[in-house]
Amino acid sequence: MSRSPLSPQRFSDLDALRAQVAAWRAAGERVVLVPTMGALHVGHLALVAEARRVGRAVVSIFVNPTQFGPSEDFSRYPRDVEADLARLAEAGADAAWTPDVATMYPPGFSTRIEVSGLTEGLCGAYRPGHFSGVATVVTKLLNQVRPDIALFGEKDFQQLQVIRRVVADLDMGVEIRGVPTIREADGLALSSRNRYLTPEERAAAPRLHAVLARIAEAVRGGAETAAPCAAGIDELEAAGFQVQYLAVCDAETLAPVARIAGPARVLAAACLGRTRLIDNLPV
Ligand code: PAJ
Repeated sequence: MSRSPLSPQRFSDLDALRAQVAAWRAAGERVVLVPTMGALHVGHLALVAEARRVGRAVVSIFVNPTQFGPSEDFSRYPRDVEADLARLAEAGADAAWTPDVATMYPPGFSTRIEVSGLTEGLCGAYRPGHFSGVATVVTKLLNQVRPDIALFGEKDFQQLQVIRRVVADLDMGVEIRGVPTIREADGLALSSRNRYLTPEERAAAPRLHAVLARIAEAVRGGAETAAPCAAGIDELEAAGFQVQYLAVCDAETLAPVARIAGPARVLAAACLGRTRLIDNLPV
């Protein structure tokens, strides 16, 4: 299927968006939602390409205030909707859903989705309230757009598992699909936050992926996970990272595992200066 790089139709009004989605569905087309916070890079565009492959690609752009902690980067988070729309045109997205804060959180808004268990470890331990904010906004986006399928990057692996849980628990009837992480040539996972890195930090950053790759290799055959993780933390700290966590976890429950017995994932979060990086790999 080839489409010319026309700008995606931009919607800021929910009724208009729903009318378009209903028209596509009536024509027998599948509707695929790609939720984003904008500052789009090639990693996001891989999700858009996958969405187009499957059906009509609706990309939401909303910097969600409720998933940022008080000392996090909400106010300095990069915002450039015109540049994002240009990238979406190149990528062939069909629609951009760009609600404002008043549309998402009108006066009187009082509901939050809380997911226990899955959200308590890893990033959840360092970002209180973060996954509740994500689960709430994604539930809202899914209810607004009512797609057949929604795509999320494996880059944010805990987020992907949390969304799967919410959708299953609340019978939301949308298929959630994960898309593999897109990386720079040196291994660094693409992220909107990479632009915060100084040249020195950028030079050190690929070490995170290298360490995860080495641990994945070391524990694959069933070796104990503790020693390789401890060595990985030491190596990252020596390279200037402040490691928040580095662990091998069950790929579904995200509970730490002492030895590999089934599908697992090695996951880490570490700061370089003011920039927090996360990454993970399958084992
Ligand atoms: P954001 O960080 O903008 O990411 C949007 C989507 O792009 C997420 O599913 C994320 O996992 C995916 N993504 C980011 N970097 C990627 C990479 N290098 N390779 C592949 N996919 C990548 O994640 C969020 O926004 C928000 O939490 C959101 C789900 C939109 C809720 O506000």
